[in-house]
Amino acid sequence: MISNNARMPQAPAVLRFPHGFLWGTATSPTQVEGHIENEWTHFIAQDGSHCRTACDQYHRYPEDVGWMKKLGSNAYRFGIEWGRLQSRPFGEINRKELDRYVDLLDRLKTAGITPMVVLHHFSNPPWISEAGGWTNPGTTRAFVDYATRLVPLLRDRVHLWNTFNEPDTYACVAYLLGGFPPGQKWRLDRFQRVIDHMARAHIQVSNIILARRGPSGPPEVGISKNWTYFHAYKPYSLWDQTTAAACHYTFNKYVLNAFLGSGRVKASTFIGLNYYGRVRFHHFAPLIPASGTPVKRLKDFGFTCDDMVERYPEGLQNILGYLHSKCRLPVYITEHGAASQDEPFRERDLRQNLASLHRAIESGVDVRGFFYWSLLDNFEWQFGYTKKFGLLSVDFSDPALPRALKPLAHVYARICQANALVQ
Ligand code: NOJ
Repeated sequence: MISNNARMPQAPAVLRFPHGFLWGTATSPTQVEGHIENEWTHFIAQDGSHCRTACDQYHRYPEDVGWMKKLGSNAYRFGIEWGRLQSRPFGEINRKELDRYVDLLDRLKTAGITPMVVLHHFSNPPWISEAGGWTNPGTTRAFVDYATRLVPLLRDRVHLWNTFNEPDTYACVAYLLGGFPPGQKWRLDRFQRVIDHMARAHIQVSNIILARRGPSGPPEVGISKNWTYFHAYKPYSLWDQTTAAACHYTFNKYVLNAFLGSGRVKASTFIGLNYYGRVRFHHFAPLIPASGTPVKRLKDFGFTCDDMVERYPEGLQNILGYLHSKCRLPVYITEHGAASQDEPFRERDLRQNLASLHRAIESGVDVRGFFYWSLLDNFEWQFGYTKKFGLLSVDFSDPALPRALKPLAHVYARICQANALVQ
């Protein structure tokens, strides 16, 4: 006989997030603003495109703040483009360009959206690139000078500061893989130099930021570390194990230690984590769509991938536990998202990753916010406009660049508004 209980429909599980949790979206200047002068201006991506107009957020930011409000999000992570504000070494801050960012900050405030400002996101003023970029130790001094001028001007409006976005990705793709300008390959010495110079800059700039309280209390500062898991496809393949271990050491351990190792952890008040998933190696080759293996083929290996990397939601809980035990700092998920035209897939990915994040919170990790990458479909660096990460689509064939909500945007809006994930 079937008991009454067995017939009862199951109530959906509701995963509630902590009070005051930030639900945001994220972008970066080169990827969305357009009208920008940096090393990407003349770069031609694999799809033949460039970033010279991008989403034209330079002019359309009031509309984009309106979209963020529609989503019910309460935070926005965006970058300030160094080259716009300082057109020559150690020069004055350009007030007109600053005013545009100030207007954006004021509109965010009116909309009830907390800003997180990124100071470096894969781009430099032309005069920095000409001098060797971050391989030159003088770049640390120039960046600290820039922050010394900029931070006091924004202190009243910005509470959350992100000094460097994914220094690991930047140094790797620019100096080991050759995908970002200056397009150099296998210069491990330069990779290390870039990381070391950025880590020094982070510590000095953090001290500038933390030196004074803003109106909403002591400021918060941290880098955003991309965390990718590197594994061998076949656990008994010694060579693939070695390749995975070398990548883990170089991109995760070395970089984390440079920024947050031993006493350096004191320079940060939080860790920003950008989490997408995993790379598995087979006969030395990374089995991911971003390296050219089609998503469909990877299915035959039993992999679930977006158009970039393998998805690995349980990894999010694990890395959060690891960072918590290593650094004892609060964490913001400063990026997570999926690039795909398959919206149900993106919804599953978001739900699985948020459930994993929730388990980490339940186990005691202090996670304070989640920023979806990205607000808009945008210029995905060497891949151009082919990778669709947006909650909103942008019609790049129409000069008006109209935005429209995608199905995932409605799902995300319900999560933001409820501060909960209903399963
Ligand atoms: C990391 C980077 O910060 C961002 O610029 C990029 O678009 C996303 N991940 C997706 O690859």
